[in-house]
Amino acid sequence: MTVITCIDDLKQIYRRRAPRMFYDYCESGSWTEQTFRENTSDFDRIRLRQRVAVDMSGRSTATQMVGQDVAMPVALAPVGLTGMQHADGEIKAARAAEAFGVPFTLSTMSINSIEDVAGATSRPFWFQLYTMKDQGFVSSLIQRAKDAKCSALVITLDLQILGQRHRDLKNGLSAPPKLTLSTMANLATKWRWGAGMLGASRRHFGNIVGHVQGISDAADLGAWTAEQFDPTLDWDKIAKIREEWGGKVILKGIMEPEDAQMALQVGADAIVVSNHGGRQLDGALSSIRALPAILDAVGDKTEVHLDSGIRSGQDVLKAVAMGAKGTYIGRAFVYGLGAMGEQGVTRALEVIHREMDISMALCGRRRIDELGRDILKIPADFEGHWAK
Ligand code: GLV
Repeated sequence: MTVITCIDDLKQIYRRRAPRMFYDYCESGSWTEQTFRENTSDFDRIRLRQRVAVDMSGRSTATQMVGQDVAMPVALAPVGLTGMQHADGEIKAARAAEAFGVPFTLSTMSINSIEDVAGATSRPFWFQLYTMKDQGFVSSLIQRAKDAKCSALVITLDLQILGQRHRDLKNGLSAPPKLTLSTMANLATKWRWGAGMLGASRRHFGNIVGHVQGISDAADLGAWTAEQFDPTLDWDKIAKIREEWGGKVILKGIMEPEDAQMALQVGADAIVVSNHGGRQLDGALSSIRALPAILDAVGDKTEVHLDSGIRSGQDVLKAVAMGAKGTYIGRAFVYGLGAMGEQGVTRALEVIHREMDISMALCGRRRIDELGRDILKIPADFEGHWAK
């Protein structure tokens, strides 16, 4: 048995255990994958300043995100089809997050439903909303999230249309998988996954199937998105959703200061600097590179979070030291889930926590509120000089 010491160890096991179609779905960016790659490589460009002879005792990574206590500034990002990576994947990830003391965000495009996750956990989770043309369905999702006592609504703003990911098209991605010859040949080698799936409580999009009529193919994420997602979403609609929800709202997908200002105006409790893990606009800046300008624009007026590219505790430390109040992991927890189910998600959180805690100490800091840009070495050209 491999000793798991880093997120990449989990990724290697995940790669062996999960069906190719779902591994590819997770591990893809859109088009050339430039943004997907730079989300991680740009973190490597920032260096940490080693400090010595500082008392390292009594450390804590605890802090708050949108006023809620978190064991570390890391939430589980909403990830579509999580329950295809491992049987009952959303339930397992939510349980691991709850035990660890970090927020779990359930995607609209999840396999386990809002009610499934609420029934399997005892503390509130966050719900991520995609806005659909069918207003009645959006209202019913909001009501279901309220009934489930979700403690924040994360509205994704950057996916009214789907960025093209070549491999999903080539693989014919669907949930559950359509049994073509090549899919069957691949599934035949994934006995552990298959055995789990036989016992799974769901194999379809649990928030959708049985809740809306007239979908031509509910299993096909691309077709569903093209047919159902609301291309007319604008700031007025976002303000109305916020009113209807009435609780904490986190707006995800902000990459430009102008949009950060708009998010402020509609009353966001937090914004997430995110390019959707490099899965939407290929050619966009990495999130960590976009972060400083957003912080300059609105950092003293609302909470600024970051996702896209976090694969280690050092990455979390860099983002938080730069000024983010919280971060999200998507792929990093999916690797753990696909490798070892709930235990794997716990392991991913433990790895990230340990990396963050020890690196923070080696930078001479003991608490999150002591972190600042003075522990970082940021390249002078990091944000880039762009012609107007
Ligand atoms: C959906 O959120 C996706 O990125 O596939």
